[in-house]
Amino acid sequence: MIFSLLLWITPLLLLIYLSNTYALVPSRIPGPLLAKFTDLWRLLSVYGRNTHEEQDKLHKRYRGRSDLVRLGPNLVSASGPGYIQQIYAIDKKLPKSNFYATFQNIVNGRRAASLVAVTDEAVHARMKRLVANAYALSTLVEFEPLVDSTTNFFLDTLQQRFAAEKKEIDLGFYLQAYAFDVMGELTMSRRLGFIEQGMDVNNIMKSIDANFEYFSVIGQMPWLDELLGKNPMYVKYFRKNVSSPILKFAQQLLQERLQHLESGKESEKESAIGKPDFLARFLQAKSQASGDEGTEPMTDGLLLSLMFGNINAGADTIATTLRAVFYYLLTHPKELATLKQELQTAQDNGAVTMSCPTWHESQSEHLVYTRCVIKEAIRLWPALSLPLERVVVDPAGLPLHSPDGEDKIVLKQGTIVGINPYVLHRDPRVFDPNFTDSSSPSNVDSFDPARWLPSNSSLKNSRGNTDAQLKTMEHDLLTFSAGKRSCLGKNIAMMEMCKVVPALIMKFPNMQLVDKSRWKVKNAWVLAQTGLFVKLNP
Ligand code: HEM
Repeated sequence: MIFSLLLWITPLLLLIYLSNTYALVPSRIPGPLLAKFTDLWRLLSVYGRNTHEEQDKLHKRYRGRSDLVRLGPNLVSASGPGYIQQIYAIDKKLPKSNFYATFQNIVNGRRAASLVAVTDEAVHARMKRLVANAYALSTLVEFEPLVDSTTNFFLDTLQQRFAAEKKEIDLGFYLQAYAFDVMGELTMSRRLGFIEQGMDVNNIMKSIDANFEYFSVIGQMPWLDELLGKNPMYVKYFRKNVSSPILKFAQQLLQERLQHLESGKESEKESAIGKPDFLARFLQAKSQASGDEGTEPMTDGLLLSLMFGNINAGADTIATTLRAVFYYLLTHPKELATLKQELQTAQDNGAVTMSCPTWHESQSEHLVYTRCVIKEAIRLWPALSLPLERVVVDPAGLPLHSPDGEDKIVLKQGTIVGINPYVLHRDPRVFDPNFTDSSSPSNVDSFDPARWLPSNSSLKNSRGNTDAQLKTMEHDLLTFSAGKRSCLGKNIAMMEMCKVVPALIMKFPNMQLVDKSRWKVKNAWVLAQTGLFVKLNP
């Protein structure tokens, strides 16, 4: 009896001892018991694919007592007003955690980190300096025709293949096909063929999906990746030189461009770097970098990573967001009717170009509600829905103050801290600022685009939010992250979405969801969905 009791108690005492000795998270931060001792809790939670809801529930349970929740012995999740600034502000200088290192690719046996996945901040700063121009707001004008051509091709294909024949469409798949084809066009002037073929060409989507599934889980205990996917023996003897089909495709196009560039012929050189796509801009940066002393050379591996990074970062995120927009609209008839009314009025007034609005038109006062719909969808459905992890590197630690300034906790050096946009965006203190516990309940969990309406709109703001409050809410949207590692493709993503959403509604105003129960959600960092089946022309 005593022996078997000891058998149970000894490991338990050992665990408590180890957690008190090595765990960095202060014990007054609440969280699941297992998470106090091991990262296994969060690994299993991510493996369950419903982490976003689990984390949201935890924060809701502890709100009032603590804005900080322990998700691992060394990982703190934060939610509440003011935390974005305290964690992601540039002067905080918190680098990304090793969660991101697991996402790094292996090209020819060596790690090749994309901009999103690089963890060394000095390397990141050098990479960003070389290519930031390619993503600047000013380049949008040049990218716009590329987005338009794919959007028009998309609309025509849907019309011929589905609407004309009154056939059901897996709109979720086609939105993803659209997002991938646009990124192919923007990155290397080549559609990837998804819309045209109506299928996952070369299993590119499947392989990116598998990447996210593996890395999202393994990223919870990044050292496991060193034993598995990045194990030197595995990399040396088993891993292919270029492991993903999209990398292979990008490599082929890169080689073609490099050959043109090196051919010596002016016309070929011009066609290699004169195109209005990202690759041309990266190649221009490469030639500038090789001329500047002290600047790091841009290797082919880096070029490939940048191309892959674009498609990896920009295709599934946009697809997921677009699916969310259409799911919310098709399940909210009143909001859909308001949107249709706005678009009809804009058409009647000649304020939108058919079939695809220009970027300029999409930002005009004629499409205010359209923008509110998109804003509300990216609030409720941030495409990347795990904590955006950063590491406390300052030996003095990172002080975190409660919103009222009355409480302060100092996170020790080495602690990982992050905000999950999905959780923050459901915090009524941030996104329903006029809500008070005593009166009507908050609708922060509901799809309500009218919460974003500005005071000069002819429609009424549903929550009585003032323009100043809207400004703060907008500032607190974390969908595209914040600070120096925030999304470089945000402008492009917004342009794409602000075009294709109204374009689809104007083209197929009667579209209907076929069966709501087929909608399924899976969190593999990208909050992806399946089962968006629609009749475009019922
Ligand atoms: C709705 C669409 C998109 C969403 C929600 C999104 C979201 C994000 C987020 C959250 C990050 C930062 C991740 C972190 O802090 O851990 C990020 C980084 C990044 N995104 Fe996006 N993204 C989108 C579209 C795009 C597009 C279209 C491109 C390319 C054209 C792109 C390129 C990048 C790049 C290069 C980074 C790394 C920035 C850096 O670390 O310097 N993204 N994105």
